[in-house]
Amino acid sequence: MKKYLVTGGAGFIGSNYIHYLFEKYSDIQVINLDKLTYAGNLENLREIENRPDYQFVEGDICDEKIVDDLMKDVDYVINFAAESHVDRSIGSPDDFIKTDVYGTFVLLESARKYKIKKFVQISTDEVYGSIEKGSFVETDPLMPSSPYSASKSGADRLAYSYFVTYDMPVLITRCSNNFGQYQYPEKLIPLFITNAIEDKKLPIYGDGKNVRDWIYVLDHCDAVDFILHNGKNGEVYNIGGGNERNNLEITELILNGLGKSKNLMTFVEDRLGHDRRYSVDCRKLESLGWRPKYEFSKAMDLTIDWYKNNQWWWKKIKSGEYLDYYKKQYKMK
Ligand code: NAD
Ligand code: TYD
Repeated sequence: MKKYLVTGGAGFIGSNYIHYLFEKYSDIQVINLDKLTYAGNLENLREIENRPDYQFVEGDICDEKIVDDLMKDVDYVINFAAESHVDRSIGSPDDFIKTDVYGTFVLLESARKYKIKKFVQISTDEVYGSIEKGSFVETDPLMPSSPYSASKSGADRLAYSYFVTYDMPVLITRCSNNFGQYQYPEKLIPLFITNAIEDKKLPIYGDGKNVRDWIYVLDHCDAVDFILHNGKNGEVYNIGGGNERNNLEITELILNGLGKSKNLMTFVEDRLGHDRRYSVDCRKLESLGWRPKYEFSKAMDLTIDWYKNNQWWWKKIKSGEYLDYYKKQYKMK
């Protein structure tokens, strides 16, 4: 029986990862430590919230006491908790530094004290910065360009330092842009799908030619679990979907998928410091035997259908009703 401490498990990828774990394993225990910021949503975990092998703890990864209490008999820590939206990091970087850097430090210290078996730091391909041609390999220098990616770079290298300095069993993953169910509708794909469903404009930054490599969230979850069990301590692993698309292509896919007019597209002022292209070379992970399983257009169809069929989930968030709702539902302050 292995015990997982998943941080940020009420967010997009963390909640998908917890569902993934329970579908795959029958002999595990999962603790989900999440601060429930605007991005944390317990409705993502409704189907599993009463399982005896699952425990939700509302708390901050920066809080040493909570972290120490939970860490005691944990086997694996998977650190998803973060402030994750680039646009917000441009407006107010404070929480990014606190959670992404200091919070990771608190987790690492506690994990060291309790000699946990594996610590997976969920980093991001954004730590490399932008690349015009070719793809980044794991040994390339980090050149983050937003407060978000800079804070994630700090956490990424801090985790590595605990491997080098204290011989801690740390693994670091750098994944490309995820999409799928339960993604907060401020990120490109869920924002554009939900706006299009409501016949609202889709705001394209700049010329719309910025490129991201898109991966279906369940492939990311599968890769994290694969690396946890097959990766080598102290190593970094790039994870990519192999689906580089520019934002105009993504927008057109969404509009076509929903049968909506291109008139909904609107070009707006560019994001400050907007990275032109992200691209990671995933041969290191492939050489261990992992590849994504979901075909891009099928995964996009699944995602569009999910937002079409689960309007109860995102309409509450977009109307601002969700915060009030969960406070009542879960009897919070
Ligand atoms: P998200 O914003 O949807 O979820 C983040 C979760 O962390 C939320 O539930 C939030 O409540 C929680 N959280 C925030 N601060 C906390 C704190 N101080 N203590 C405890 N919990 C806290 O983010 P996501 O898209 O699911 O991303 C998860 C992780 O994956 C992040 O570390 C992100 O950097 C990384 N990542 C994301 C992508 C992507 O495309 N979304 C790609 C690569 C890596
Ligand atoms: P985003 O989903 O914020 O992810 P990231 O910036 O972390 O890659 O944005 C993906 C791309 O979509 C990025 O090039 C910015 C662009 N974008 C828009 O054009 N309009 C939008 O409203 C948003 C949220 C993003």
